[in-house]
Amino acid sequence: MSFQLVKLHATASTNEELKVRFRESELPNLTTIYTDHQTAGKGQMGSSWVSEPFKNLTFSVLLSNLNAEFTDFEINKLVTVVLVEWLREKLQIQAVIKWPNDILSVRHKLAGVLIENIYKGNSRACSIIGIGLNVNQMDFPDLEKAISLNQITNKTYDLELLLIDFLQALQKALANPGEAISRYEQHLFKYHQEARFQIDGKELTARVEGVDDTGRLILISNTYGRSTYGLKQVKWVY
Ligand code: BTN
Repeated sequence: MSFQLVKLHATASTNEELKVRFRESELPNLTTIYTDHQTAGKGQMGSSWVSEPFKNLTFSVLLSNLNAEFTDFEINKLVTVVLVEWLREKLQIQAVIKWPNDILSVRHKLAGVLIENIYKGNSRACSIIGIGLNVNQMDFPDLEKAISLNQITNKTYDLELLLIDFLQALQKALANPGEAISRYEQHLFKYHQEARFQIDGKELTARVEGVDDTGRLILISNTYGRSTYGLKQVKWVY
């Protein structure tokens, strides 16, 4: 198995860096950029991703072989399932997918995924899979509710070996993406359970029914019945 791995000492955002390089030249599928120090990491919905330099994995992977058969949200499913199963099976870490893009362990955020799809005309030219995984960082500001592998296992990890191992798992899953995608619900945080949410500025309890084909969260609540919600319409309340 081989993939092109590009290590940068520092960069603003590995997603941005990979996007620029993709526009400039042809890159093989699974080309990966990672950095020791991401200075302006991007998170969901315009937020930022802050990661202590040299301690964690901040990387972006180019996926260019998934044709129109797979929707943007199925790519999100594929990546989050591969990440969670890799954490569980290879590292013996309890992990679940908190819709839409967080990976939780013991109810704390262990990793975040930011997928940016690049379209040429009507067709997706590639997906830039950005992942921030907290690995060796020992403490986080309380507000972030974050956790690292080190805090869970007391081990210190070699970042590059970890990255290569994850990329191998991803490459393996790409041989049959549909299989991993079909296991999404198995790993979904609070699947078929009740949780607290904020909707229209109101806090309420709702049952998580799943996620529809376009990636909207399906909830059942007394107030709204069975409804679907996009990222901007619903917030998890811890
Ligand atoms: C989130 O949870 O909000 C998503 C965080 C994604 C962070 C990763 S770190 C590597 C890649 N480059 C970025 O600028 N962001 C993603």
